[in-house]
Amino acid sequence: MAGSPGAFKKSLLCRLNRYEELTPEVFRLDFTWPGPYPRAGQFFMLKPQRSSVFLGRPISVAWWKPPHDRGGAGLVGFSIAKRGKGTAELAALQCGELVELTGPLGNYWGALDPEPLQGPIALVGGGIGVAPCAAFAEELPPGTFHFYGGFKSLPFGLEKIPHASCIIATEEGGQGRQGRILDFLEPARYRRVYACGPEPMLKAVAGLCKNLGVPCFISMERHMACGVGACLGCTVRTIRGNRRCCVDGPIFRAEEVLFDEYA
Ligand SMILES: Cc1cc2nc3c(=O)[nH]c(=O)nc-3n(C[C@H](O)[C@H](O)[C@H](O)COP(=O)(O)OP(=O)(O)OC[C@H]3O[C@@H](n4cnc5c(N)ncnc54)[C@H](O)[C@@H]3O)c2cc1C
Ligand code: FES
Repeated sequence: MAGSPGAFKKSLLCRLNRYEELTPEVFRLDFTWPGPYPRAGQFFMLKPQRSSVFLGRPISVAWWKPPHDRGGAGLVGFSIAKRGKGTAELAALQCGELVELTGPLGNYWGALDPEPLQGPIALVGGGIGVAPCAAFAEELPPGTFHFYGGFKSLPFGLEKIPHASCIIATEEGGQGRQGRILDFLEPARYRRVYACGPEPMLKAVAGLCKNLGVPCFISMERHMACGVGACLGCTVRTIRGNRRCCVDGPIFRAEEVLFDEYA
């Protein structure tokens, strides 16, 4: 349980102990979490105790802290972008309120990688996709990675990324370099590329890496119902057939994913 990463998944009512607005569109929630601690890349289903939505919403772990002592509770934190009804409910939470957390779910960064994690590595986050990449950065030895963060206007979620390793791009050009983050990524410099963000960005990074023969791993986003592999509602099409994003992913080998044409 506590103290063993991802030993089994649990649903627990957890207390919100920190709420922070990161930008007008993005907020951070931290919870006391007494269950198994997660690995970067995994996610939880979040559903407020008082909620009008039927299903929890899948949210990646942005950071976590193991318990101080055996049997104690750790902390788990999420960065969330306001989209529809479910994330609006999460945005309206007050500290002290209870939220059902189910997890940790899915695989983790590095789970599909046959080689030990050795640099140089590129972590590429687009928008809210920065959150699971920043969690991964905390697991990697300093100096082994460059972090590429792409945003529309305001950067967020980069507090723990060493300044010297971080490349920021904003489409509006207010901070960092102006443009899209992939304009600044040279995959040939890296042994591995790990990416999370909007599907068109993932499709583009997968194409760049494939052309250069650089192994690339991407975190896919799908609407989810059960989150545990039972409803088949979260299909990702791959060259090995249909896969469930919630249990076979969310991390996939980029070269195996068959992207939708619109992406
Ligand atoms: C593994 C995983 C990790 C994630 N991690 C994060 C994270 O760390 N932070 C974060 O902010 N978000 C994350 N997401 C995305 C997050 O789960 C969604 O933004 C959230 O579920 C939206 O819920 P909502 O109720 O706010 O919006 P909804 O009301 O569900 O709608 C959101 C948008 O999707 C559209 N939509 C609704 N249903 C469908 C459908 N069936 N098919 C296509 N489009 C539809 C709506 O029109 C709307 O534009 C993650 C998703 C996955 C799968
Ligand atoms: S959400 Fe039910 S199978 Fe993935």
